[in-house]
Amino acid sequence: MSQIANLAREPLILHTPRLMLRPLESRDAAQLLALFGDPAVTEFMDIAPMADLAEAAGVVDWANDRRAHNAGVRWGVRMAGDERLLGTCGFNLLELDRGRRGEVAYDLAQAHWGQGLASEALSAVIGFGAQRLGLHRLEAMVTPGNTRSVRLLERHGFVREGVLRDHGFWKGRFWDQMIYARLAPFD
Ligand SMILES: CC(C)(COP(=O)(O)OP(=O)(O)OC[C@H]1O[C@@H](n2cnc3c(N)ncnc32)[C@H](O)[C@@H]1OP(=O)(O)O)[C@@H](O)C(=O)NCCC(=O)NCCS
Repeated sequence: MSQIANLAREPLILHTPRLMLRPLESRDAAQLLALFGDPAVTEFMDIAPMADLAEAAGVVDWANDRRAHNAGVRWGVRMAGDERLLGTCGFNLLELDRGRRGEVAYDLAQAHWGQGLASEALSAVIGFGAQRLGLHRLEAMVTPGNTRSVRLLERHGFVREGVLRDHGFWKGRFWDQMIYARLAPFD
């Protein structure tokens, strides 16, 4: 493996057959608001549907902070050559010191579900994690009932390791989280 990527210093533009992935920037806030304003998108996520631009800007700030500390990265997902934001994906968490773990996350606007686009984006995220971050273990947290997310993870070789009871608290209550993981090799 080459040296571990310094996320703050690299442009981190990724390409797949159909998509271009670019780390979230402040100019993406309005499109993020449209994405996360849809209750169908946030149903199984740890956020309520967004109502104002400040919340979307907060997501960009959070992502930039993660990236600045080599602790995560969130890409905006677009069709190649098209500025419209279809969704996001990336690593919510990275542990590169006392482990080699990354927690993947992804979402798409509902109009783009069922076309294999999240799968394509996740392949790019996994490839980056393997080749540039030297990850050994990939994790994903899934809210029970999110069958599309489970199908996506299983297609990529993730296996369910268990249920973390009352692991999260959002939208006014505790939520179980299913933990899925995949170990290296990732090719
Ligand atoms: C989770 C989520 C990203 C999954 O999106 P998705 O579009 O179902 O996932 P994929 O990209 O793997 O697409 C798979 C589907 O596309 C179909 N497909 C069509 N063309 C395809 C192609 N060229 N390649 C691969 N699959 C293709 C597959 O047959 C599959 O169909 P199915 O859903 O009927 O089984 C999406 O439901 C979402 O954004 N949900 C809201 C946010 C969320 O919950 N995120 C996860 C938090 S853990």
